[in-house]
Amino acid sequence: MKKQFFSAAVVAAALCACGPSAPQLGQAPIEDVIGAMTLEEKAHLVVGTGMAGSSGDSAVIGETRNIVPGAAGTTYPIERLGIPAVVLADGPAGLRINPTREGDTATYYCTHFPIGTLLASTWNTDLVESVGKSIGNEVLEYGADVLLAPALNIHRNPLCGRNFEYYSEDPVVSGKIAAAYVRGVQSNGVGTSIKHFAVNNQETNRTGVDARVSQRALREIYLKGFEIAVKEGKPWTVMSSYNYLNGIYTSENPELLNTMLRDEWGFTGMVMTDWFGGKDAVAQMKAGNDMLQPGTDKQYEAIIAGVNEDKLDVAVLDANVKRILEMILQTPHFKGYKYSNKPDLKAHAAVTRQSATEGMVLLKNQANALPLAKEVKNVALFGCTSYDFVAGGTGSGNVNHAYVVSLLDGLKNAGYTVDEGLKNTYETYIKAEQERIAKQKKAWFMPDERPVEMELTTAQIQEQVAKNDVALITIGRTSGEFLDRKVADFNLSKAEKQLLQNVTRAFHAAGKKAIVVLNIGDVIETASWKAMPDAILCAWQAGQEGGNSVADVLSGKASPSGKLPMTFPVQFEDAASSDNFPVDVEGNIDITNKDLKKGNTRNVDYTDYEEDIYVGYRYFDSFNKQVSYPFGYGLSYTTFKYDNPTIEASNGLYTVRVDVTNTGKVSGKEVVQLYVSAPDAAKANKPAKELKAFAKTAELKPGEKASIVLTVNAKDLASFDAATSSWTVSEGEYKFLVGASSRDIKATLKANVAASTEKANDILKPQQELKLLKR
Ligand code: BGC
Repeated sequence: MKKQFFSAAVVAAALCACGPSAPQLGQAPIEDVIGAMTLEEKAHLVVGTGMAGSSGDSAVIGETRNIVPGAAGTTYPIERLGIPAVVLADGPAGLRINPTREGDTATYYCTHFPIGTLLASTWNTDLVESVGKSIGNEVLEYGADVLLAPALNIHRNPLCGRNFEYYSEDPVVSGKIAAAYVRGVQSNGVGTSIKHFAVNNQETNRTGVDARVSQRALREIYLKGFEIAVKEGKPWTVMSSYNYLNGIYTSENPELLNTMLRDEWGFTGMVMTDWFGGKDAVAQMKAGNDMLQPGTDKQYEAIIAGVNEDKLDVAVLDANVKRILEMILQTPHFKGYKYSNKPDLKAHAAVTRQSATEGMVLLKNQANALPLAKEVKNVALFGCTSYDFVAGGTGSGNVNHAYVVSLLDGLKNAGYTVDEGLKNTYETYIKAEQERIAKQKKAWFMPDERPVEMELTTAQIQEQVAKNDVALITIGRTSGEFLDRKVADFNLSKAEKQLLQNVTRAFHAAGKKAIVVLNIGDVIETASWKAMPDAILCAWQAGQEGGNSVADVLSGKASPSGKLPMTFPVQFEDAASSDNFPVDVEGNIDITNKDLKKGNTRNVDYTDYEEDIYVGYRYFDSFNKQVSYPFGYGLSYTTFKYDNPTIEASNGLYTVRVDVTNTGKVSGKEVVQLYVSAPDAAKANKPAKELKAFAKTAELKPGEKASIVLTVNAKDLASFDAATSSWTVSEGEYKFLVGASSRDIKATLKANVAASTEKANDILKPQQELKLLKR
C-alpha cells in the first residue's frame, strides 16, 4: 500500500508502526495531534508538497504529488500521526486532471461542463446545484478531495481574461450561483475552494497589481458575493487571490481573512493561497491564510525561521494547522474512500447537454426566426468556429475532456443536412490555420489563438443560398488565465463583419433567414451588427456537448431561458471601469512573483477602482447610458405575462408575490428579477436600482401560471457608509421593481422602510485618495 492511501480505517497498522504514543488524527483529540507534531511537520503541513522544481523532491513528496496526476496540489502526509495527503484539483467547468497516465492504458477524461458565465445565465440555482453534484462526483470518483472552484470575482470589465470562469457583474447573482454550486459539489463529501478572494478582476500583472478600492465598493460589490457564498454555501475552503488590495496582499491581510471572513461572516474553514500567491509566509500565517499552495522550500524555511526567531507565535501556527486538519478530517482520502476512477461520464454528458441549453441567451428573434421552421432541412454553416467549437476557456479553468461536439455534429445529430461542400472548404482552411498557429510560439498555459475568419467569394455564398434553407454563422472567442482580452477581441474583426454582412444580405435577398450563434466566453460588441441577422443566440462556451445543446435550442427541442448576468455595452469604452483597466497591455505570465512592484504604471502596478460601486447596470441605469443588451435580458420562444404583484412587510422582511403566466404557444421558463430603488438614490449617491432577489419558474406549458415569491430583508437594503463604517438603511418609501430585465420593469411596488444602522469593522481602507464617480 502506498503511503498516502492509508486511512483512519488502518489506524491499527499505523499504531504498530509508530508506537502507541503517537496520537492519531480522527482518534485522538485534534489538540493532541497538534501537540505531538514537530515544528517541521507543522511547517510541512501548512506549505503543501510543491511543484517539481519549487520544493524538495523527497520520496514522500514525489509519491504524494502523483496520487492523482495532473491535480493542482496536495497536502503533506504525516503518516505517524494518521494524517493522509489530500488532493486539490481545479476547476470551475469540471475537474482538471491529466487524461492519460504513463504506463496505463486507462483514460481519465473528465466532463467539460459549461463555463461559469453560462451557469450564471441560467439564473437557476437548483440546476447549478445539480451540475455541481455531477462535477463533485467526478472529484470523488477520480480520487480528489477539494475542487478549486467556484470562481466568483465580479465581471468588472468586459476584457478580464477570466470572466468566463466568473459569474456576473452583480454580487447577488454571483453569490447565489456560487452557493448553489458549492452545495452541489460538497453533497458528494468533497470540498470546494471559493476563489479568488478578493478583487482579482484583471489578469494583467495579477500577482503585482494593487487593486485600490473604496470600502463601500468592497462591501457592496466585490466582497458581497463571497459573503453570500460563505453563508449560504458553507465552502470547506477559500482561496485568497494573487493581487494586492489597498496596498496589502490579500493572502497577507488579517483584516480580510480574519476580521471580515471569519469574525464578521462566521467562516470556520481553511484558507489557502492561490498558486505561489503572496510573498511573506509568516505574514500569511498571521493573516489566517492557513495553507500555502503549492508550497516552496523557501516558504517552509521561512516558517521554521519565523518560529525560531520569535516572529511567528506557535499558537498562530497551531491555529493554521488545526484548520487544515479539520478540513482533512472531512475528506474522502481521510475516510479511506475507495474511488472507482470510473465516474458515469455518459450520465454527466447528459447533465452538461441539458444544463447548457438553459444558460443560452436568445438576444434577438425577429419574426420568430427561431426555432427553425419544420421545413428547414438544409443548413449552410458559416464561420470557422461552427466546425471548431469552443467548449470553454484556457488555463486552470480548462478541463481535459474526451471530445467536443461541434455545431456541425450537433446539427447532424439533430437530423439536419449540413452543406458538405462548404464544410470541406472550411475544414481545409481551418487545418491550414491550425498548422500556422501551431508554428507560433505559445507560452505555457496561454490561450490558443483562433483561426482568422475565412473570406468567401460572392459566388461561394450564392451557391450556398441556392442549395440551403437557412444560414447559420458562428462567431467564436476564447480567452483564459494570465491574459486580459484586447479591445480587438471585444470588437468583431473586419472579416467577421464582412462575413455577417455578405451572408445575411445574400440569404435575405432570396427570402431566407440568417442566424448568428455566439460561441463566446464573455461580452463582445453587438450594437454595430445586430440589425443584420434574423436571430442571435448567445450560446456561450457550453461545454463538451455544446453543439448538441445549441442544436436542441435551434430546433426548438428546448426553449431558451437564459438571461444575461452582465450588460452588453454599445462600445467597450462605455463601461465605467474602462478608464481604469489595462487596455491592450500584454499580460504578465510570471507566476513566481519575481518582479513585483517594479514600477508605478497605472492599471498595471496599481488600478484605481474609480467607478466605485457603479459596475455594470448600476452604472448604465444610474447614468442613463444606452446599452446594446441590458443586464437580465433574454428572450424565449414563448411570452410571459406578469399579474397580481403584491408586497407585504412583516418584521423587517419584504415579501413580493407575482403571478407569471405563459401566454405563448410553447413551453418555457421565465426568470423573474426583483430590483429595489432607494428613495434617496440620486441624492445619496446610490444606484438607480439594485438586484435583491431572483427566481426562475419551472417549465410552464402554454397557459400555465406560476406564483413567484421573492423575499428581501430590510438589512439587505443597506448601503455602506464609510464615514461611520456602518451599513445604513435610510428611511422612506422604497420602490420594489419586478422585472424581466433591468430595463423591462413589469410592476413597481412601494413599501415604507424604517431607518437602521449596523456598525461594521473599519477595515481594508484605501491608502490613497480615490477620485470616485458619483451620481
Ligand atoms: C489559478 C487558480 C487555480 C490554481 C491551481 C492558479 O494559476 O489562478 O484559479 O486554482 O492556479 O491550478
